Amino acid sequence: MEQPFLTLNNGISIPQLGLGTWQTPDHEAAACVATALEAGYRLIDTAAVYGNETGVGAGLKVSGLPRDRFFVTTKVWNDCHGYDATLRACEESLARLGLDYVDLYLIHWPAPRQDRYVDTWRALVRLLAEKRTRAIGVSNFEVAHLARVINETGVVPAINQIELHPDFQQRELQAFHREHGILTQSWSPLGQGTLLTHERVLKISRKHGRTPAQTVIRWHLDNNLLVIPKSVKAERIAANFAVFDFRLDAEDMTWLATLDHAGGRIGPHPETADF
Ligand SMILES: NC(=O)c1ccc[n+]([C@@H]2O[C@H](COP(=O)([O-])OP(=O)(O)OC[C@H]3O[C@@H](n4cnc5c(N)ncnc54)[C@H](OP(=O)(O)O)[C@@H]3O)[C@@H](O)[C@H]2O)c1
Repeated sequence: MEQPFLTLNNGISIPQLGLGTWQTPDHEAAACVATALEAGYRLIDTAAVYGNETGVGAGLKVSGLPRDRFFVTTKVWNDCHGYDATLRACEESLARLGLDYVDLYLIHWPAPRQDRYVDTWRALVRLLAEKRTRAIGVSNFEVAHLARVINETGVVPAINQIELHPDFQQRELQAFHREHGILTQSWSPLGQGTLLTHERVLKISRKHGRTPAQTVIRWHLDNNLLVIPKSVKAERIAANFAVFDFRLDAEDMTWLATLDHAGGRIGPHPETADF
């Protein structure tokens, strides 16, 4: 079955399922990316702070795929907030990736204590106009941060990439996204692996004859979320992509919906995260 694509608010098409690369070492990134592209992935998620853009770029190159057949996301880190620093950071990421443009450039965290994310966003608007990126978005933005960039610049982010998995479903933020035509992309979609031994996940997986990771990835797809599970293991990278020939049923979805709880967040809170 064909992999699904969604459409961003500027008409660009984006693969719904991609490969995450946080904690993938630079020296392993090329092989992971090549394995993923071979398995059929067309979206790779990296970031300046992951320290693996060089390896990611090498993997894209060895795949031999034409540039318009893959989608690359990278992100400006917290130490480059502000207009000029962000423009420079993007050029540095492009140089490491060996690309003339990325498909999606994101502000990694709002870092509200620096109070510069609106200027950073203005730099992303310029990078879009200069075709250094085909789409722009944010990551880890709360409703207040989103409202501020929209109100002050009039430009709506295409995506907000946020922590999201069955244990932490971010319903309020998702509703705001829907209202404004922002797509939601789930990071740590497998709860960094913690969800894969959950009794309810195991039961649903057995019912469908699937792995727990496939079940959780399918949950994201069936909720119209973009999803970027990470693995460095070739067999897991391939298995995590073999999810387009089944769907969860209404009972599964209802069960998984009940896992959501306020304490389900694994990562830092965006209001205070400024590493
Ligand atoms: N914007 C942000 O602030 C932000 C924050 C965090 C993450 N992200 C992005 O989101 C991506 C995904 O999030 P994540 O890496 O935190 O966590 P994740 O994808 O939820 O989980 C990754 C963990 O699950 C394991 N795993 C993957 N597939 C598996 C399978 N089939 N069976 C068993 N274990 C499996 C991986 O181990 P192995 O690698 O050993 O297989 C790794 O330990 C990141 O890589 C990154 O691209 C963005």
